[in-house]
Amino acid sequence: MTDRILVAPSILSADFSRLGEEVASLSSLGADWVHLDVMDGHFVPNITFGAPVVRAVRSASKLVFDAHLMVAEPAKWVHEFADAGADVITVHREADAHVHRTLQLIRSLGKKAGVALNPATPECEVEYLLDDADMVLIMSVNPGFGGQKFITSALRKIEAVRNMALRRGTKLDIQVDGGVNPQTAALCRDAGANVLVAGSAVFGAADRARAIAEIRG
Ligand code: DX5
Ligand code: ZN
Repeated sequence: MTDRILVAPSILSADFSRLGEEVASLSSLGADWVHLDVMDGHFVPNITFGAPVVRAVRSASKLVFDAHLMVAEPAKWVHEFADAGADVITVHREADAHVHRTLQLIRSLGKKAGVALNPATPECEVEYLLDDADMVLIMSVNPGFGGQKFITSALRKIEAVRNMALRRGTKLDIQVDGGVNPQTAALCRDAGANVLVAGSAVFGAADRARAIAEIRG
């Protein structure tokens, strides 16, 4: 975990017809990570892109590639995303009956392992995973689409997971994803999140660099 606040723009809201350029621009806009939303039309009601697209844009940026797998049975796909150049691979607790094993698999490939919780999933679901996870992703919208409204109960969950990590003395990245803008970002930072994902608030902004700076706070 870093003590800095990190901003991870989600390319879900980028112009897909110019994806390479959009990814390439993020470093000079001040972003820290590139957030890659992978959806399979099964775990979530939308389809985006898979490992070949991640591989194709990998050379466009030196930033950390943060793959958020919103797919059923994510263990099946971990190798492919690792090979494609993801640095952080996050899987959903709800999508995987053996998520503990999947986190170990991700780490065995030399990648950082993240576990994500949907808005309805309580924080106790990660309690016995903390030794094997580098990051917990708290969803602040129901996954599937960009541009949704921030669900405020995510703040309590961020706080609870941060306290869990502090009690254990674990260095844990806590990421928040969904409806993050300069206003909600401030609440998330106060609650203990240190990695802020934002799609529409960055790519929809007239001044993207400013949006990133304001989200960082
Ligand atoms: C939602 C995705 C998010 C999404 C965020 O399923 O996981 O990363 O792109 O988009 P905004 O920031 O527009 O809510
Ligand atoms: Zn995401």
